[in-house]
Amino acid sequence: MKIIRKIEEQQKYSLDMKCRNKKISLIPTMGFLHEGHLSLIDTAKELSEKIVVSIFVNPTQFGKGEDFDKYPRDEKRDLSLLEKKEVDIAFIPTIEEMYPEEFQTSCQVRELTKKHCGKSRPGHFKGVTTVVLKLFNIIQPDIAVFGEKDYQQYIIIERMTEDLNLPINIIASPIVREKDGLAMSSRNKYLNHEQRKEATVLYESLIYASNLIKKGKYGAGFLRKEMTNLIKSKNNTRIDYIDFANTETLKDVQKIEEPTRILMAVWVGNTRLIDNMEVKP
Ligand code: PAJ
Repeated sequence: MKIIRKIEEQQKYSLDMKCRNKKISLIPTMGFLHEGHLSLIDTAKELSEKIVVSIFVNPTQFGKGEDFDKYPRDEKRDLSLLEKKEVDIAFIPTIEEMYPEEFQTSCQVRELTKKHCGKSRPGHFKGVTTVVLKLFNIIQPDIAVFGEKDYQQYIIIERMTEDLNLPINIIASPIVREKDGLAMSSRNKYLNHEQRKEATVLYESLIYASNLIKKGKYGAGFLRKEMTNLIKSKNNTRIDYIDFANTETLKDVQKIEEPTRILMAVWVGNTRLIDNMEVKP
């Protein structure tokens, strides 16, 4: 595995691969890798010859007072995990390399970024789309793999790719969970023992809702109330949102009569966790 830290060197590598007709997959990450990230590599390996994983804790997608400074970082461990996975390139630029002093351009998807996580994290998705577009231009992948864990992010990247006619195939990969159902996340590290136990309530509430749907309870209002009661029964939780949205468009769903994603964000102590699940009538 090669480590590349300079944009120019990465662009040269990618151009060389293109000349040799090798397909490149990109997996963008912010590092502190876990099984969720590694599963995206497995998905990519089925689809292309060369795998590039980027590691960059992108400052522009963190709001004021959010956890940019304390976001967990462990480059050495990340590199050894990527090495084991036989990744071709670890692209690890510095902040200065990505955002030189004169940097002043951004890319924004307008409507999809206003709801769900976009409501409570204004500016977050503008930071995401801008950095992902930069990574697309630097690595020039044929395929880019994103986790369904960040479902709204995946839909927004798909929109950007289509709207800007980027010649990249965007692939979604399923959520990887801990044994007790908690979706894997670098931020789970922030949870203390009691909070970690309570954090399973996100997944439990999704399963609870999908069981109610199987019994014919289709009203989003009713389901939200039931999920809210379950989540509120834990000491350290505070609900940010529970939304019911069309799987493809993310338009609001009132009744589960179409493929729907239940999307949620819940604070457990000072840690904001997200999860989602597809449900069908
Ligand atoms: P990060 O949170 O590091 O996630 C990188 C990728 O891993 C994302 O596509 C995310 O959805 C996926 N992922 C995380 N946890 C997962 C899980 N439990 N199961 C499956 N996939 C999972 O998302 C970001 O970084 C950033 O916003 C980024 C796209 C890199 C732009 O900065």
